Amino acid sequence: MKKILNTIDNKRIKIFEDKVLASKEIAGEIADLIKNKNEKNEKTVLGLATGSSPIEVYKELVRLHKEEGLSFKNVITFNLDEYYPMEDEDVNSYHYSMYYHLLNHIDIDRNNIHIPSGKIHKEDIENFCYLYEQEIKKVGGIDFQILGIGRTGHLGFNEPGSERNSRTRLITLHDITKIDAASGFGGYENVPKFAITMGLETIMNARRIILMAWGKGKADIIKETLTCKISTATPASIIRLHKNATLYLDNDSASKLD
Ligand code: GLP
Repeated sequence: MKKILNTIDNKRIKIFEDKVLASKEIAGEIADLIKNKNEKNEKTVLGLATGSSPIEVYKELVRLHKEEGLSFKNVITFNLDEYYPMEDEDVNSYHYSMYYHLLNHIDIDRNNIHIPSGKIHKEDIENFCYLYEQEIKKVGGIDFQILGIGRTGHLGFNEPGSERNSRTRLITLHDITKIDAASGFGGYENVPKFAITMGLETIMNARRIILMAWGKGKADIIKETLTCKISTATPASIIRLHKNATLYLDNDSASKLD
């Protein structure tokens, strides 16, 4: 691990045998944060991700709500991204996925849920993105941001080339991202060409970040993220500059690290 640069060190990379155990630990940290804030009558602002990586975290949060009474009444959520164009009801939408895995099963106030919209008119996108950033600011910023990572090194949908100071915006999806999404959409040609994503600056402003990556398919990009020169070519490398970020890996995703 000696070659790992800047502020990410062994203490901030956790490697687990089993992603379920890792996910329980992550959910536990989120639950503690919510409970502490609830006691002080404060809101907790969560930045949420989609894809397969956080599913076990959401499963555990639902269990904590149902079996241990964890309340999400004071929780505000902001999702990272959504395909564009995309209807909320589409099974491939991130709206659908969030409600399916988490939001339908907890006591969150629906007014506190924010997910970029894939169905707004093109000419309204810029304003929508501006307002999304304003909403985050208005509630005092994101306390805890969950992230997965794409094979291009994207966070949210911040594909290579995304700037460190980028904010919520429309982005063109990378070919590899579309190839990875193709099976869900019944073919590459059906994958939307665009997405609306929070920017890297939006993500980096979160007070706590957890990036999770499971499985052999993530081994190359994890190695690259941790050992490359920090640059826009590998957007995820930027989280090495965050003071309070932890990487959760399993043996497979960590298998190419020294
Ligand atoms: C998508 C999402 C990312 C996610 C990535 C990895 O592209 N926009 O936020 O991290 O996929 O997905 P998975 O967790 O399924 O590997």
